[in-house]
Amino acid sequence: MDRIRIVGGNALNGIIPISGAKNAALPLMIASLLTSDTLTLENVPHLADVEGLIRILGNHGVDIAVNGRREHQDGSYSRTIHFTCRTVADTTAPYELVSKMRASFWVIGPLLAREGQARVSLPGGCAIGTRPVDLFIEGLAALGAEMEIDGGYINAKAPKGGLIGARYTFPKVSVGATHVMLMAASLARGTTVIGNAAREPEVVDLANCLIAMGAKISGAGTSTITIEGVPSLSGARHRVLPDRIETGTYAMAVAMTGGDVTLSGTDITLLDTAIEAIRRAGAEVSAVDGGIRVIGHGDQIRPVDIVTEPFPGFPTDLQAQFMGLMTRANGVSHVTETIFENRFMHVQELARLGAKITLSGQTARIEGVSRLRGAPVMATDLRASVSLVIAGLAAEGETMVSRVYHLDRGFERLEEKLTRCGAIVERISD
Ligand code: UD1
Repeated sequence: MDRIRIVGGNALNGIIPISGAKNAALPLMIASLLTSDTLTLENVPHLADVEGLIRILGNHGVDIAVNGRREHQDGSYSRTIHFTCRTVADTTAPYELVSKMRASFWVIGPLLAREGQARVSLPGGCAIGTRPVDLFIEGLAALGAEMEIDGGYINAKAPKGGLIGARYTFPKVSVGATHVMLMAASLARGTTVIGNAAREPEVVDLANCLIAMGAKISGAGTSTITIEGVPSLSGARHRVLPDRIETGTYAMAVAMTGGDVTLSGTDITLLDTAIEAIRRAGAEVSAVDGGIRVIGHGDQIRPVDIVTEPFPGFPTDLQAQFMGLMTRANGVSHVTETIFENRFMHVQELARLGAKITLSGQTARIEGVSRLRGAPVMATDLRASVSLVIAGLAAEGETMVSRVYHLDRGFERLEEKLTRCGAIVERISD
């Protein structure tokens, strides 16, 4: 199993190209199930989760053609993938596949809308909470589907003639359930109004792609989305939006190690709340042509309290990284997690590097220390593992991160991007 060895202490200087967003690429790829034409996606990141979903979609009958990766001057790659699902080969998503990646559960939306039926295993995914699927069941039932759980699977069946548009308000904001409702309602008969919809940029990206495919959607990015169903969707070409979580992660790394880095190919407006928190912590962050410039001062980090919330609040996917940054602050800060009930697994690993963190319910109290010391640590989930990398970059001596397959699910060429900026990071394959 691969490990990552980091020798901390170097400031980061240079350019880090930001990849396409994993959390946008996954639903966009799944949207290819909605049409018999070709959906072409540009800027698709090369990540274990994307490759996993390619296999899953192949199982449903999607033909996939990957255009070679092209390297650009700033070190970024671009990858274009064509997805064509002439006919759906299988409306079952089996446990072996869905348990590896929670997002693959989302195929339930397009399969039900296009084929009138789907049998999808209940998901697995990151171990960061119970993550139920009640909102998906309620939402699709509102569109007329019969939903039944049997042997670890959800059997979903549309009424004769297809799903029927309806008014449905989510009792809780869910990104995944909003994606699924958007896809399902696009092919339903009549108008659907989704209340309390997720407002994340990835939802807007999916809506824009569906609109390019012929869907009639308005209000994406607000809490109320209206979808007028159409009988069929066509192919389209769409560019995956930049990864705001990767952007925020590297910005926090620079804030922590010090240095001057331009994050290229990204957009500051995708993560206003996180940028504001990084600025309050003392780093200078500004929009520059084609990206964001971050100047960090390393030793003068100020304590900042954050609370995770659905967009536009502080993203839960940057919580672990921000806690990493706060371990070196000049004072006490508090990090409160409101989205997932078990997302503090990085706390005990950060403590191995010398961090002083105490937990009380959903809030972590972090007493900044003047220095961290490298140690062997273990990655526990995707975002937690990158917080250990960031902390390792700022720690004295060697940090060895094991179980890095978590990182490979969501961070493209992490070692290469950091090494180019002066960090000492290497992958060790045993
Ligand atoms: C997506 C992101 C993930 C991010 C999360 C929150 C992808 C691939 N993943 O996950 O990185 O951390 O949004 O921003 O895009 N919930 C229910 N019932 C349901 C569905 C969800 O109670 O049927 C709860 C969840 O347990 C959680 C909350 O709603 O407490 C938000 O989860 P949700 O927004 O659905 O997260 P995902 O879409 O799975």
